[in-house]
Amino acid sequence: MLNKVSIDDINFKGLRTLVRCDFNVPLQDGKITDENRLVASLPTIRKLIGDGAKVILCSHLGKPKGEPKPELSLAPVAVRLSELLGQEVKFAADPEVVGPNAKAAVAAMKDGDVILLENTRYRKEETKNEDNFSKELASLADIFVNDAFGTAHRAHCSNVGVAKYVKTTAVGYLMQKEITFLGNAVNNPKRPFIAILGGSKVSSKISVINNLLDKVDTLIIGGGMAYTFMKAQGGTIGNSLCEDDYLDYANDMIKKAADKGVKMLLPVDTVIADDFSENANTKVVKAGQIPDGWQGLDIGPETCSLFADAVKNAKTVVWNGPMGVFEMKKFAKGTEEVARALADTDAVTIIGGGDSAAAVNQLGYGDKMTHISTGGGASLEFLEGKELPGIAAATDKKRHIMAAGNWKMNMTPSQAVELINTLKPLVADKSDTTDVVLCVPAIDILPAVEAAKGSCIHIGAENMYFEEKGAYTGEISPDMLTDAGAEYVIIGHSERRQYFAETDETVNKKVLKAFEHGLKPIICCGETLTQREQGITIDWIRQQVKIAFLGVTAEQAASATIAYEPIWAIGTGKVATAEQAEEVCGAIRNVIAEIYDASVAANITILYGGSVSASSAPGLFAMEDIDGGLVGGASLKPDFAKIVKFDKQ
Ligand code: PGA
Repeated sequence: MLNKVSIDDINFKGLRTLVRCDFNVPLQDGKITDENRLVASLPTIRKLIGDGAKVILCSHLGKPKGEPKPELSLAPVAVRLSELLGQEVKFAADPEVVGPNAKAAVAAMKDGDVILLENTRYRKEETKNEDNFSKELASLADIFVNDAFGTAHRAHCSNVGVAKYVKTTAVGYLMQKEITFLGNAVNNPKRPFIAILGGSKVSSKISVINNLLDKVDTLIIGGGMAYTFMKAQGGTIGNSLCEDDYLDYANDMIKKAADKGVKMLLPVDTVIADDFSENANTKVVKAGQIPDGWQGLDIGPETCSLFADAVKNAKTVVWNGPMGVFEMKKFAKGTEEVARALADTDAVTIIGGGDSAAAVNQLGYGDKMTHISTGGGASLEFLEGKELPGIAAATDKKRHIMAAGNWKMNMTPSQAVELINTLKPLVADKSDTTDVVLCVPAIDILPAVEAAKGSCIHIGAENMYFEEKGAYTGEISPDMLTDAGAEYVIIGHSERRQYFAETDETVNKKVLKAFEHGLKPIICCGETLTQREQGITIDWIRQQVKIAFLGVTAEQAASATIAYEPIWAIGTGKVATAEQAEEVCGAIRNVIAEIYDASVAANITILYGGSVSASSAPGLFAMEDIDGGLVGGASLKPDFAKIVKFDKQ
């Protein structure tokens, strides 16, 4: 299956779908006090239920610091989500998050069921993005959907690490909405484009200011950080907040704005107080004229009008950060006025998450804004122009492929060692995205395994007998292969069917034996030219696959590899077209879905084989249902590395 950016491109029927949500909601005495984030997650969950997916939700909540903290359990979220969805969301209570309880709950799921895992931050590995927990999460799922924009600027197991171990990834509707609105606002805005930045610290907004100056027509700066700008310009600011280390930076930004023809609006007056409290004495003074003993805590009335006027003519406004200490009524006016100006304008209005989103919602202007981001830090980093790891992991993921060589009756042991030594450095960088396998003559296995040590090359055999041991002169047993270090074994290659009278039944016996011994079978099937010309290709392949998989469990099947090798294309230089190969590989996936389910079909590896070369591989491997290739002739030379190098998106 291909990695799709949009969940609309995927039919989730029967697939175990792990959805990273942002359920980091405020709780008081076990009650959710703001459920905006739950409501925002519903469209994606509903689409998955509608498709008949097995929906496995996960999220962090607060900071339990790597251990179970009952007050930070997601249990109340499951209850409220059930009400919002009108369907039970089963809570998989489990202190290990992916422990026995969660696994059992997932195993018992039916299509359309929804479960919620426990707080991912109960696990200490989560915030360190450690592989073991990422793998555990991935083991529950066939597909990963990231819909947690609020955490997208973090690289944790449940939003980044997990994507590495799941074949298919996508972003959910909420994430997509954030990317669209924030992305369009910043990169493709309707002009005039105004950004309003507030908040207390210049230092936390350095990159945002710098990046936005390249994009906006007007930049408005209010809030605590405006005082650093005032001081930088020679004003007096009393006891106001100031970051002296950033005075030069502030001047640089003022200069950059002038050089770029960007209008920069700073406060012209300010509400000052003689104490940081609701009971302080206050007055309004001109900006940069704050007496000693006083501090600026809000923008003044003239500034409110100035900012509101600027907003009136805008077509796009992005706002991040309050204008004053809006938590105190006395100093909330500036923030309120800006919020009102945004509510009144016809411009596209985008509110960065965090404080400004809270202010807009508190003032009841929520539905007057075009988009209120659900991410605080994440929206800020987005405005900085940074790539967010949570988005990149789900959208830029390269799909895993397999490049398997079949040396047939070629290569002596010493030639084998030489070629493997040549290949090793050439394929070293592909270990994350490609299973590189060389299936070699039995006599080459030992030296090949030795030569491949420490590299990403795995060694397999080309055949194996289905008995354990005994009087079968010339045959090789599964134990011999595993003991020699082989991990894979080709079974039912057409040449064995043709020259050594292997039948579908013997293939089945060998497949079962391979699984029994922990060997990974690469099971071959394919039609003759006559069969293709008679139009019976698909029927023939279905029969071969069905018999090969008799008695194979779903778990075994999910880890199997099937190689579709049209006999007329093997060693002939007559490669199947990508469309011909895709048609049959798609049909094979369907048979597997029929025998097992969609989940097994999504996980099984399906290769194309038959005259694959460095030039034909990219076109073939790019097809939806082709997960790589089984390569004969072209695997006998160092050029095989070129086939391995293919990146599948
Ligand atoms: P070929 O062989 O690439 O030389 O056609 C493929 C195979 O038989 O596995």
